[in-house]
Amino acid sequence: MKMLRQMKIGVLSGGVSAEREVSLKSGEAVYRALLRRGYNAVFMDVGRDACEQIKQSGIEMAFLVLHGGWGENGAIQGMLEIMGIPYTGSGVLASALSMDKVASKRLFMQAGLKVPEFFLASSLDVEQMPFELPVVVKPSSEGSSVGVSIVEQWEDFQRALSAAARYGWPVIVERYIRGREIQIGILEDEVLGGVEVRPKRKFYDYTAKYTPGSTEYILPPEIPPGIYEQCKQAALRAHRALGCSGATRVDLLLKDEDIYVLEVNTIPGMTETSLLPKIATLAGYDFDDLIERIIEITIKRFRK
Ligand SMILES: Nc1ncnc2c1ncn2[C@@H]1O[C@H](COP(=O)(O)OP(=O)(O)O)[C@@H](O)[C@H]1O
Ligand SMILES: [Mg+2]
Repeated sequence: MKMLRQMKIGVLSGGVSAEREVSLKSGEAVYRALLRRGYNAVFMDVGRDACEQIKQSGIEMAFLVLHGGWGENGAIQGMLEIMGIPYTGSGVLASALSMDKVASKRLFMQAGLKVPEFFLASSLDVEQMPFELPVVVKPSSEGSSVGVSIVEQWEDFQRALSAAARYGWPVIVERYIRGREIQIGILEDEVLGGVEVRPKRKFYDYTAKYTPGSTEYILPPEIPPGIYEQCKQAALRAHRALGCSGATRVDLLLKDEDIYVLEVNTIPGMTETSLLPKIATLAGYDFDDLIERIIEITIKRFRK
């Protein structure tokens, strides 16, 4: 194989999902980091023409910074497998499982992890609620809190179901966990650390995620060391239960001593102020180090 720095690396970002804008920002940050480290990088804003664009670019590796939809659910990963181009992050199956919150919940439970109690609604006519309100209603495969609502009154339930169903059935209805929100960063086999997310809004919704000043981030979380360690172990177990590779960010809810796993994000935000890069500083990686480690991990994985 060529010297790493001569390999042409395509930073694939953009896409057509609801998270397109965020993805472009991450893509640009990754692209700049690669240039600073002397890599032969190209920035690519890909859409439905991804296959054509990749062929024409002649890239030898894809750095994936696509969030949501076919950028994160295994589809583009499968296309790159067929084309014989190594790519960063999780493989086809792990990507698909992580994107599907129903499939991932089942695997978390099988791995002995706690998940909020839930049921699946397959149509709008839900007449009985097995839990007390509030409940959280969410699509089974979206990100960035798109389509997620917290329902406190029965009369708002239908509207929440319809909002989530815009992204397809079934819709997940789960018990609302009144706890602290902890996110843990994983890099292959290493737990990087964590952050506590304290939104000033009702929950960590799209606005809280992307509007500066609307959420407080505590790095590392101010929780007892023993509990922090348990959060790290739970996150690593969740990452492994889905067979993930590379960098992931695992969303947890902590209520007293109970740790609930919400999801594993296989293509976490990668702007310099995104959570995973912030968490990585706890393990001694600055932004450029993190990007370079991801490249090294990818090479190792595809050599095997
Ligand atoms: N069961 C729950 N109890 C309390 N809050 C929740 C629950 N599920 C989700 N949330 C809130 O909604 C946000 C988004 O939910 P999540 O399952 O992580 O989906 P997404 O893929 O959109 O990030 C979480 O960060 C949290 O603030
Ligand atoms: Mg989340």
